[in-house]
Amino acid sequence: MKFLNILLVLFIVGCMSSPSMQSNLETYIVQVESPENQISTQSMSMDLESWYNSFLPKSIASTSSNEEVPRLIYSYHNVMKGFAARLSADQVKEMKKKSGFVNAWPERILSLHTTRTQSFLGLKQNIGLWRDSNYGKGVIIGVLDSGIFPDHPSFSDRGMPPPPAKWKGKCESNFTTKCNNKLIGARIFPKENGSPIDDDGHGTHTASTAAGGFVKGANVYGNANGTAVGVAPLAHLAIYKVCDSFGCSDSGILAAMDVAIDDGVDILSLSLGSSTSPFYSDSIALGAYSATQRGILVSCSAGNSGPSESSVANEAPWILTVGASTLDRKIKATVQLGNKKVFEGESAFHSKFFSTKFVPLFDPSLNASESDSSYCGSGTLTDRAVKGKIVLCMIGGGYTRIAKGQAVKDAGGVGMILINRIEDGFTTSADAHVLPAMDVTYEDGMKIIDYMNSTKKHVARITFQGTILGDQNAPVVAGFSSRGPSIASRGILKPDIIGPGVNILAAWPTSMENNTNTKSTFNIISGTSMSCPHLSGVAALLKSAHPTWSPAAIKSAIMTTADTTNLANGPILDETLLPASIFAFGAGHVNPERANDPGLIYDTPVKDYVPYLCGLNYTNREVGNLLQRKVDCSEVKSIPEAQLNYPSFSITLGENPQTYTRTVTNVGEAKSSYIVEIVSSQGVSVTVKPSTLKFLKMNQKKTYQVTFSRTANSSTSGVVQGFLKWTSNRHSVRSPIAVVLEETATLDF
Ligand SMILES: *[C@@H]1O[C@H](CO)[C@@H](O)[C@H](O)[C@H]1NC(C)=O
Ligand SMILES: *[C@@H]1O[C@H](CO)[C@@H](O)[C@H](O)[C@H]1NC(C)=O
Ligand SMILES: *[C@@H]1O[C@H](CO)[C@@H](O)[C@H](O)[C@H]1NC(C)=O
Ligand SMILES: *[C@@H]1O[C@H](CO)[C@@H](O)[C@H](O)[C@H]1NC(C)=O
Ligand SMILES: *[C@@H]1O[C@H](CO)[C@@H](O)[C@H](O)[C@H]1NC(C)=O
Ligand SMILES: *[C@@H]1O[C@H](CO)[C@@H](O)[C@H](O)[C@H]1NC(C)=O
Ligand SMILES: *[C@@H]1O[C@H](CO)[C@@H](O)[C@H](O)[C@H]1NC(C)=O
Repeated sequence: MKFLNILLVLFIVGCMSSPSMQSNLETYIVQVESPENQISTQSMSMDLESWYNSFLPKSIASTSSNEEVPRLIYSYHNVMKGFAARLSADQVKEMKKKSGFVNAWPERILSLHTTRTQSFLGLKQNIGLWRDSNYGKGVIIGVLDSGIFPDHPSFSDRGMPPPPAKWKGKCESNFTTKCNNKLIGARIFPKENGSPIDDDGHGTHTASTAAGGFVKGANVYGNANGTAVGVAPLAHLAIYKVCDSFGCSDSGILAAMDVAIDDGVDILSLSLGSSTSPFYSDSIALGAYSATQRGILVSCSAGNSGPSESSVANEAPWILTVGASTLDRKIKATVQLGNKKVFEGESAFHSKFFSTKFVPLFDPSLNASESDSSYCGSGTLTDRAVKGKIVLCMIGGGYTRIAKGQAVKDAGGVGMILINRIEDGFTTSADAHVLPAMDVTYEDGMKIIDYMNSTKKHVARITFQGTILGDQNAPVVAGFSSRGPSIASRGILKPDIIGPGVNILAAWPTSMENNTNTKSTFNIISGTSMSCPHLSGVAALLKSAHPTWSPAAIKSAIMTTADTTNLANGPILDETLLPASIFAFGAGHVNPERANDPGLIYDTPVKDYVPYLCGLNYTNREVGNLLQRKVDCSEVKSIPEAQLNYPSFSITLGENPQTYTRTVTNVGEAKSSYIVEIVSSQGVSVTVKPSTLKFLKMNQKKTYQVTFSRTANSSTSGVVQGFLKWTSNRHSVRSPIAVVLEETATLDF
């Protein structure tokens, strides 16, 4: 997977950047107090700039001409009071003495974490949510990513209205002519990096997934052929290029969010992230908080560090955190061995008119001259014996799947079998390989190696069956999709939701087939980077259909209506094909049509985050940094995390019962009545009071109490999952419940 690779590239860059020849300066993000107390102001933004500049070192006397001088890179206005600047460690030390200084940290480098999708999600032309939302008309989705390939037909503005009057964004640099009524903004962070053109492909893919227009006959080597369209095809796109081949710096991400808030975006889509950190020092959490305050919904990828526990990123409760699952589509390939055994896998190589003859297999790890050869790293396949053979390559080692194929091809190999990691389970990847190649599970890979060990004359043949629809196991949680529980806030269930993120076809800057005759170029890739823009698109549709809904209301509508069963009507499975944990899928798989009419919503007024943050035991200063104002937690009635008015529950339960309240708002029929249904597994009792909620008006609010306690025969530890569901004759509003049973020494059996 490419994301793994980007992470590795970053790691290498990170190692090399410290003993830099030219400069001992690093980019720091510096947080300062609001200038109000410090200086009197007329023009706020002018004074902010000079206030920020007053923190920079004045004396640059000792710098010789070829040395870099300290300088301001970004001034932040919305996301925080502060700036990013090139500084030395000593200069930061000096700065700390100045009055008004709050905090400084070196910038972190974050990593970047279709046709079938829309009908799989139940979106149909001229009916339902697409009709009600007018395909997302009038809504602006801001995409922070690697830029955009503007000439792609997915970004044509045929049938697009001009941007709404509130739009203040623009197309920077020499890009103006490239913009149109679909692509209404394109900015670069930092500006010196030139053009918003996407030289990676990732940003083009995510933007078209969220809001690409209809393009007929989209496919890769004939695979996944159909009409490509984004989730919200009439929404506008504003591109903020924050990533290049080195990764995505959080100083630039903050600057992009800062500007996007003023530009007037409605949704922010971030398919990037790093590992968990407390919200006050997590740039995406900081920026997303300010965006949420301004009514912008922020949708983020959960990360590709699954299936390890507690690997979820972007976990603040004001963010929609999106995990990844499969479609019902497979792009099938088959390997036959000389002993007649057959293994199925996936590949986006030619679907038709192609099959390799039986040829010998080659396992580079058996004859390793280079330590990386089992990963088929570029230049590691030096053995002449590779020629004419199908090569077995392990996933990983810092090489992309496509690059491994290229290495095999360069070494004279005629085919490749990619063997997954054991933890990938049954999640396989269909890539647009440069030679006949396919991806198999670890288990099947080992069987193929066993066969090689069993005979000297080992041969195999790969054939391609192409696109097969109707996998009844779908949606299956992808092995790579990051898992909860959240580390930054255990009391909030994360990820919130899953959406399509495996083998997603969407726009790409170049032809994977080296076909220069077409502008209609697509690629199939996987990651929570792909599921995030699906949810950003769904949020745009809901925003268009319900312009008054807050970000929290949209999130609630998506979560309480999610599907919790697969196409076969069984429980949602994970990469092992066993029922997935609630920490893998949160509220479930997005169901856009149902989200359009949720009945009740759990709204979270922004002011509720204050007692929540104090309840996380952050210091006054830490809470103040997030909220950009002075906060005294001793004057705020702090609440436990699980008391936040959130559409799901994540409870850590000891011996004592815990009671929380929730408030729901009626957005269904004015006159309606809901009764509660509770399903809890063994060991935990859940009670709700009252058990009936009667509404007489629209937007009427009702509060209920829910109590969690252990039953007498409760086991000592483990995770128990259940849900509570409010049902009327037209709606069902479901909240998932995760209970982690704490070991209790005093409980005696
Ligand atoms: C914009 O300028 C950059 C160099 O600064 C160039 O690489 C790019 O092709 C130009 N883009 C357009 C759309 O002209
Ligand atoms: C894709 O589908 C369209 C419409 O069914 C068809 O005309 C076209 O030939 C197909 N393309 C490929 C490469 O299979
Ligand atoms: C291992 O490498 C040697 C030297 O390159 C070569 O002669 C031999 O055939 C290789 N063995 C296998 C099993 O490919
Ligand atoms: C496309 O062209 C490049 C450069 O010539 C080559 O390395 C690559 O293998 C080609 N890809 C395919 C699918 O033929
Ligand atoms: C195949 O044989 C090699 C060398 O004899 C051994 O190291 C390896 O574990 C065997 N692999 C399997 C899957 O049996
Ligand atoms: C905050 O501190 C209180 C009191 O020590 C403790 O009960 C609570 O669990 C802490 N909350 C978190 C989120 O750590
Ligand atoms: C545990 O107790 C509950 C009632 O408190 C009962 O319904 C359940 O069957 C019991 N489970 C076992 C395994 O004894």
